[in-house]
Amino acid sequence: MGYFVLVPDNLHKAGLEILRNTEGLEVYAPGKMAREETLAVIPRAHALVVRSSTKADAELLARAENLKVIVRAGVGVDNIDLAECTRRGIVVMNAPDGNTISTAEHAFALMLALARHIPQADASMRAGRWDRKKFVGTELRGKTLGIVGFGRVGRALAQRAAAFGMTEIAYDPFVPEDVARHLGLSLCSTLDDLLAKADIISLHAVVTEGTRHMIDAEAIGKMKDGVMIVNAARGALIDMDALAEALRSGKVAGAALDVYEQEPPGPDFPLLGLDNVVLTPHLGASTHEAQAAVGVQAAEEVVNALLRGEYTNVRNRDVLEKLP
Ligand code: MLT
Repeated sequence: MGYFVLVPDNLHKAGLEILRNTEGLEVYAPGKMAREETLAVIPRAHALVVRSSTKADAELLARAENLKVIVRAGVGVDNIDLAECTRRGIVVMNAPDGNTISTAEHAFALMLALARHIPQADASMRAGRWDRKKFVGTELRGKTLGIVGFGRVGRALAQRAAAFGMTEIAYDPFVPEDVARHLGLSLCSTLDDLLAKADIISLHAVVTEGTRHMIDAEAIGKMKDGVMIVNAARGALIDMDALAEALRSGKVAGAALDVYEQEPPGPDFPLLGLDNVVLTPHLGASTHEAQAAVGVQAAEEVVNALLRGEYTNVRNRDVLEKLP
């Protein structure tokens, strides 16, 4: 009997091909599945491959009586209940390599859009106006970019910012000083130090109890007047009410967001009515290249786990002690 692989989110065809061409796997991947359908099929699954929309929560896991592995085609595993997976002996892996450059490029695009008011100028022209005075911007050259979270994406952003003549500083309590020095930038010893020095702050941290709402009213108060904020990591890093207030007062000159605490954000999302804001619908990893790369990595991880007992990029390492 083969292994049943359930793919309830849209996985790139390069990944699906690997799964479908592997002997011993039966693949069910009809495209984006409704929650009810996923719940109905999950009891058959030995492997589940998700992107961000399928929630592998306690309700789903309770029905997943044959499930051995969940692979996230992407980085963030915040849609997966890791503790419950560990309790049930389910290995959770992610595919962290393929979307680094796309996400860094998107953060950079947001920064440029913010500095040069590109979406606002575009909307103005479409409305029949030719307003060259209203949209005077700022150069990135010579500005200090503060990168919060200096992992893969933060580092890729730093490389790109260097080419634009920016001064870069970073804060990441898990990265040794020599790694940053090797990349030609200085590591701040505290977040406050970065907040006080940066002209533009770009967030690239994961959400933990320690980082949730790390950008709140108090943190914003420590920033330079007229700072710009970019977030292409996770929405929960920012207290949105505090940011909205700071955008209204002008303390924060502009914010560009790709991610939201609730996705999609509701109609009462406090930034929707503000002019000095650029918003995109979680597009950081949405390039053909990134989706193909994470699709392939996720598929290879499924094959290696089910057929060879090999696990890479495990997000709940404690579970490995429970495996037979
Ligand atoms: C990720 O976690 O991989 C990115 O945020 C992109 C995504 O959620 O698909």
